[in-house]
Amino acid sequence: MHLSNLLFLLQNRFLKTIFLSLMPIALFGQTDFEVPIDNRVDDLISKMTLEEKLGQMNQYNGFWNVTGPTPKEGNAKEKYDHLAKGWVGSMLNVRGAKEVRAVQEVAVNESRLGIPLIIGFDLIHGYKTISPIPLAETASWDLEAMRMSASLGAKEAAAAGINWTFAPMVDVTRDARWGRVMEGAGEDPYLGSRVAEARVHGFQGLDLSDPNTVAACAKHFAAYGFAESGRDYNTVDIGENTLHNIVLPPFKAAADAGVKTFMNSFNDLNGIPATADRNLQRNILKGDWNFDGFIVSDWGSLKEMIDHGYARDKKHAGELGLNAGSDMDMESYIYLNEIKSLLKEGKVSMEQVDDAVRRILKVKFELGLFDDPYRYCDEEREKRVTGSKEIQEGALDMAKKSIVLLKNENKLLPLKKEGQKIALIGPLANDKNSPLGNWRIAAENNSAVSVLEGLASYTGNTICHAQGVKLVNAIPAFHEEVKINTTDKSGFKAAKKAAKKADVVIMVLGEYGFQSGEGRSRTRLDLPGFQQELLEEIYKINKNIVLVLMNGRPLVLNWADQNIPAILESWHLGTQSGNAIAQVLYGDYNPSGKLPMSFPRSVGQMPLYYNYKSTGRPGADGGDAGSVFWSHYGDEKNSPLYPFGFGLSYTEFEYSEIKMSSNSMTIGSQIEASVVLKNTGKVKGKEVVQMYIHDQFASVTRPVRELKGFELVELGPGESKKVSFTIDPELLEFYSANRKWESEPGAFTVYIGTNSATKRKANFSLN
Ligand code: BGC
Repeated sequence: MHLSNLLFLLQNRFLKTIFLSLMPIALFGQTDFEVPIDNRVDDLISKMTLEEKLGQMNQYNGFWNVTGPTPKEGNAKEKYDHLAKGWVGSMLNVRGAKEVRAVQEVAVNESRLGIPLIIGFDLIHGYKTISPIPLAETASWDLEAMRMSASLGAKEAAAAGINWTFAPMVDVTRDARWGRVMEGAGEDPYLGSRVAEARVHGFQGLDLSDPNTVAACAKHFAAYGFAESGRDYNTVDIGENTLHNIVLPPFKAAADAGVKTFMNSFNDLNGIPATADRNLQRNILKGDWNFDGFIVSDWGSLKEMIDHGYARDKKHAGELGLNAGSDMDMESYIYLNEIKSLLKEGKVSMEQVDDAVRRILKVKFELGLFDDPYRYCDEEREKRVTGSKEIQEGALDMAKKSIVLLKNENKLLPLKKEGQKIALIGPLANDKNSPLGNWRIAAENNSAVSVLEGLASYTGNTICHAQGVKLVNAIPAFHEEVKINTTDKSGFKAAKKAAKKADVVIMVLGEYGFQSGEGRSRTRLDLPGFQQELLEEIYKINKNIVLVLMNGRPLVLNWADQNIPAILESWHLGTQSGNAIAQVLYGDYNPSGKLPMSFPRSVGQMPLYYNYKSTGRPGADGGDAGSVFWSHYGDEKNSPLYPFGFGLSYTEFEYSEIKMSSNSMTIGSQIEASVVLKNTGKVKGKEVVQMYIHDQFASVTRPVRELKGFELVELGPGESKKVSFTIDPELLEFYSANRKWESEPGAFTVYIGTNSATKRKANFSLN
C-alpha cells in the first residue's frame, strides 16, 4: 500500500479515530506524571494480552525505503491490520511529521491499549541535511563538534516524527575493504569510545523526553566490523583477547553514557550468530554492564540464523533469539508468529517476554510518548526546523573540521585568492550527490554543494571545469546510484586542455557516494575506474595539482603520494561539502583533521592498524635486514602510507621532550606526562596532541602502543601551551589472563606526539 492510500484509509476512519483517541490514555492513567515510570510500565504490562506483548517486540519496516531485503511476509495491508490490533511495537523508515502521525494514530487510536509506536530510523549522518559520514567526523577528533552534529541531526529528525536512531555504529574497523567503515569511528577503541559517548549524548541530550532528542542505539553488537576478508555479513572468528580489549570497549562506553538501545549484528562470532549470543547479550550487556534498555535484532537477523545453519526453522530462530536476550524483532516476523507456541512448549519463558516488553515500554515512557504520542508530529515545527540556518551552519562547521591535509609540498595550499587560472577536473568535481555519502534516506538527491559551486563564491580566480571521467547510472532502481565510468575516456581531451592553461589544477577524485556503506565491500582500494589514469595524464601536462579526495574509506594512494604536491582528504562531507572544501582550499579554514584509520600501501596489508602486536619476530619497517625470518612482506613495507592519527596543517607545530612528574607510580597514585606544544608557523592552527602507551610485558601480549589520551589545542602563531595527561592505574587496565579488566605492575613507555608513529617517548613503571 502506498502512503497516500494509507492516509486515505485513515480519513475514512476519522470519526472512529476522534472517539477512540480520547479513550486509551485516560483508561490507564498514563498521563499521571507523578507515578514513577517503572510502576507505569508494570501497570500497563498487567493489562496486556500475550499477543499485545509480542506486538511490542515486533518491528516493521514502513511502506517505502527498504534498507534491507524485503521479506515475503511483508505487505502493507497486513502491517496496517497488525498496527490496528496493537501487534506492532515499532516501525522503521516511516518519516515525516504527517506520515508518522498517520501510523501513530492507528496504533494509539485503534488498538485496544493505544500503546504508541517508537519510530526508528537510520539517522547515521544527518537526516535531510546531511553531515559528514561518521568516519569523517571522527577525523576531527573534536568531541564537542561531534556531539553537536548528532544533536542537530536529532533535532531535524525529531521534527520529522523520528524518535529513535539506529546510531551510533561503534564497530571498531581495521579493514578498509569493508564498506561500512564509513559508518563508524575507525580503528581505535579508545577514540571510538570517546566518540560513542559524544554521539550518544548528542542524540539523547540531557532529557529523552525533550522533543528535540531521540533515543540512540549502539550497534552492531558485536564484532561485525571484523567480517572476514572485509566482505560484508561475513563470518567473524576472533578470540576473547580481541573481543574484550578491542571490540567491546566502545559498546561499554555507549552503555555507560546511557544509550537506550543496542542492535545486534548479522555476523556469527566464533560459531554463534550474534543475534543468538547469550553470553554477549544476557551475560555481558544486560548482566555485567547492567544495561536496562532493549536490544533490537538487525534487519531479518533472526530469520537469517536459518541461513547461517544455526536455527532449524523460524520457530527455532525465535527460541534462540529470545533466550539469548534479543528483545525486538526487526522485520523477521518471527516473534509475533512463533513465541506463543514456544511458550506452550516451555522453550521460552513468560518472564523473558515480560522482561523484553518492560524494556521496550520503559524507553517509550522515557521518550514521553505516553504523555503525548504526537510530540514528534508537528508539521509546523518540521517546516521550521528542516534545513534551518542553525542546522546548515552546524553541517558546514562539522565538514570543515573533518578534512585532513595529507600532503602540502612547497605550500601549494592554501590557494592564492586572486589572479589564478584554476582547472577543476574530475568526475566528482561538480557531483552534488556523492558528497551525501551512503546513509541519506531522507535527503534529496543532488542536494549537496559541489566543489565547483563552493569555489564559485571565491570570485578572484577563473575556473575552467572538466569532468574527465563521466559518472554513469549504476543501479537506477536503488537509491538512484551512479558509478564512475570504466569504459569511456572521451572526457580526457577537454580535461587536458583545461589543465594546460591552468596555474593550478584541482582534481576531485575518489569513490561515488554509494561506493562505500552497507553491502559495498571492495577488493581494490585504488581510485576506481579511469581516475588514476586521468590523474597521471593530467600530471604529464601540469604538475601543480591539488588532489581533493572524496571517499568513504582509506584508499591506496602510493602514486599520488609520490607525485602530487598537495592532497586533501575530504571524505563524503554531506550537504555543505563544497563550501567546506573551498574554505579549506583558500585557507579561510586551517585544516586540523587527523586520520581515524591507517591508510594502506597495499590491499594486501589488510587488516591494517597501528595497535598491532609485536610478535616474536617484530615487524617494524627495517626489521632484520640480513634475514627473511621476521614478520614482514617481501614486496611491501609493514607500515601504512599514512598512519592513524596523521594530518597536517597550514602552520607548523613543535613538540618539546616529554616531562614526567615521576617515573613510577603505585596503585592508588597517579603521574603526569606533559609536553609543551608551540605553533612555530605563521597562521593560527589546531593540533591534536596524542598520547600512546605501551605495556612492555603482561599476562597476555599487549599492542605495541595504544591511544590513551588526546587533546585538541588551538594556538596562534608563536604561541605555546603545556599539554598534560594524567596516567593512573585505571588507564592501564586491560582484559588480562585472569579474564577480567585489571592493570598489572610492570614497565611502560609513553609516547606523545602528532600521530601514532611518533617516536617521542619516556618510560615509567607501575609498582
Ligand atoms: C543495517 C542496520 C540498519 C538496519 C535498518 C540493516 O541492514 O545493518 O545498521 O540499522 O538495516 O535500516
